[in-house]
Amino acid sequence: MLSIDLKNSIIDVEKYRMLLREAKLRFLKEDLGFKKLPYGFADLLGEFSKVDEMMKGKKAIVIIGIGGSDLGTRAIHKALSHPHYNEYADITLNDEPKIYFIGDTTDPEMISGLMDILNLERTLWLVVSKSGNTIEQSSTFAFVRSEYQKLNLNPVDYIAFLTDPKSGTLREISNKSGYKTVDIPSDVGGRFSVLSSVGMVPAHLLGLDVDQMLSGAKDLHELISSSKENDRDDVLEYALNKFAQYKSGKNISVMMPYQYSLYEFAKWYQQLWAESLGKQVNSKGEVVNEGQTPIAVLGPVDQHSQLQLFNEGPNDKFFTFIRAEESRSNLNLPDDYKDVEQFEFLQGKSFQEILNLEQSTTAFALTKYGRPNVTISIPKVDAYHLGQLFYMFEVVVTLFGYALDINPFDQPGVELSKNAMYGVLGKSGYEKEKEEFEEYSKI
Ligand code: PA5
Repeated sequence: MLSIDLKNSIIDVEKYRMLLREAKLRFLKEDLGFKKLPYGFADLLGEFSKVDEMMKGKKAIVIIGIGGSDLGTRAIHKALSHPHYNEYADITLNDEPKIYFIGDTTDPEMISGLMDILNLERTLWLVVSKSGNTIEQSSTFAFVRSEYQKLNLNPVDYIAFLTDPKSGTLREISNKSGYKTVDIPSDVGGRFSVLSSVGMVPAHLLGLDVDQMLSGAKDLHELISSSKENDRDDVLEYALNKFAQYKSGKNISVMMPYQYSLYEFAKWYQQLWAESLGKQVNSKGEVVNEGQTPIAVLGPVDQHSQLQLFNEGPNDKFFTFIRAEESRSNLNLPDDYKDVEQFEFLQGKSFQEILNLEQSTTAFALTKYGRPNVTISIPKVDAYHLGQLFYMFEVVVTLFGYALDINPFDQPGVELSKNAMYGVLGKSGYEKEKEEFEEYSKI
């Protein structure tokens, strides 16, 4: 089980305890789609079989997705696969598929660069989109499909969809043209979907331990839901501390893992925290402009980049460290450095020990400077604890959103630019947005 060290975050949290406790009760009571995902392993097996057949003879997987349809899968892959996975796949000759991510941009250099290195006949494309309408994945899909058609290959043998069970353009195309299609549960929003087919299908294709990932999340869910009012609930305490710090002016939330493999997790968190909490209005429709700006950084890399600011700049940040007690690579420095006296203090140390000391001394320094920080510790980076980390932050952001009285599950603020783009690209139904944009462009 992950553990949370709150000792550096002591402020007066008591005045918000009742509010957070009520938020937790609401979370436990409500029928939220993401709460069911840790229990979904059996349902996923059917979805896995849809893509297993298509994977035969393929040597590469490409994920075409963006936001919640992309970031969780990247986080899983980076956390659990070999750090140089694609190159490693070449060396082992074990037939592991390589993996690439592309739908997060319409930057032509990225798309054509990928086309340069892929053998299309040996590639499986997963078009991941809950809505089935997003411009980035739609355009990449349309392009890739035509590349197969140019080669007289049938795109349905190479491209599968992950989308809503009923609605959206991808579902319509799938019904009409017979693309293999995996369901994304309709009651789970993009940024809460990592433990659904969205993250689990690619994880399965990469040979990662889906069962363990879900078990970690399930165990955490059960711990949270079984704790009685007076029991200590670390997840609630973390949410409470962070909330109290936000209320006292800590408008920035810095997420700083020390394992390199968790950097993409921090970026996943960045979307979850920003899109869920950055809201103009509360449940009564009053303008509140809530939100705590998340920043994903990495230790020790950013000790040499941002720490100066963190320690001595504005005191407007709440820091969350994530560390692993053990590494998957047991690498030690040599036992003797007799020839170089200056290195003697390093002799015999393990790299993980140095890494974790870098984390704890950074936490120490922040504390000395009066900067609130919390350390989350996991025994090591594995599927079980990664599942817990995902689930923990989904719960915390929900509690935070409820305590702020905003809706953590919508994202009205991303609609305006999206609709303007549809308008200027000529999509029907968006004429008003087109007109408004053209008016704005004249200024
Ligand atoms: O969290 C969200 O809902 C968004 O970030 C979406 O995941 C993102 O916009 C991609 O949407 P879709 O999966 O519908 O293509």
